[in-house]
Amino acid sequence: MRVIVEPDSSGVSRTAARFVARLVRHKPTCVLGLATGGTPLGMYQELIRMHRDEGLDFSRVVTFNLDEYVGLGPTHPQSYRYFMQQNLFDHINIDQRNTHVPDGRALDFEAYCARYEQTIEDEGGIDLQVLGIGGDGHIAFNEPGSSLGSRTRLKTLTAETIRDNARFFGSVEQVPRLAITMGVGTILESRQCLLLATGEAKAVAIRETVEGPVTAQVTASALQLHRDVIAVIDELAAARLARRDYYREVERAQELLEADRGE
Ligand code: F6R
Repeated sequence: MRVIVEPDSSGVSRTAARFVARLVRHKPTCVLGLATGGTPLGMYQELIRMHRDEGLDFSRVVTFNLDEYVGLGPTHPQSYRYFMQQNLFDHINIDQRNTHVPDGRALDFEAYCARYEQTIEDEGGIDLQVLGIGGDGHIAFNEPGSSLGSRTRLKTLTAETIRDNARFFGSVEQVPRLAITMGVGTILESRQCLLLATGEAKAVAIRETVEGPVTAQVTASALQLHRDVIAVIDELAAARLARRDYYREVERAQELLEADRGE
């Protein structure tokens, strides 16, 4: 796993946006996997800025979001569809028909989840999957104990996730108990993963993800099995990594290589 440590969360947002923008320029028809939550917000703002000021073109980009709360429709202010419209899709030139967020009000969830997987496949698979991480090490809503081979399905949220996300809903009682989420297996099939983490509340989860054993108790640790993962994290989230200095060395070498290649 490549680990890039930025001084602060704005550095994380800018670096992450650069990776996404590079792909969009290189492959205008790329398939992006997207996440919601507080962490990627700055990256979305930077992508909107790049679209506005630099003409970054999303017209042929296809997106798939990781997850959605069960029971919330697209106009519910806490639904992930609403979040994506407000924080990205309404501000760039993406074709709305190319944006996919799981439908929290699907009737037959099993059939719906199978179709979601099929649509990802029909679009050629995800080129770059953006991920946040929960304090308990979850990616998407793959809570501790989720099978590392899991596919898109319904998942019961843990008390910790419900508590963490209550800040968006106003109270714990209003947070849905179930979500549709891509599985760990689905995520591992993306061609590249971009894991973002900021703040000290993520430091333990990041240590377990990057340097701990691969375990279903920390579903992000499954990313160690993926051939192309870039973790972009701030100093606070990196605070508990034992090999922090080594990751910095690797990045310095990487920069020299890129300068040599004129990138
Ligand atoms: C959201 C998602 C979640 C979040 C994670 C961190 O689509 O998949 O796994 O990435 O819960 O959330 P924040 O960024 O709010 O700390």
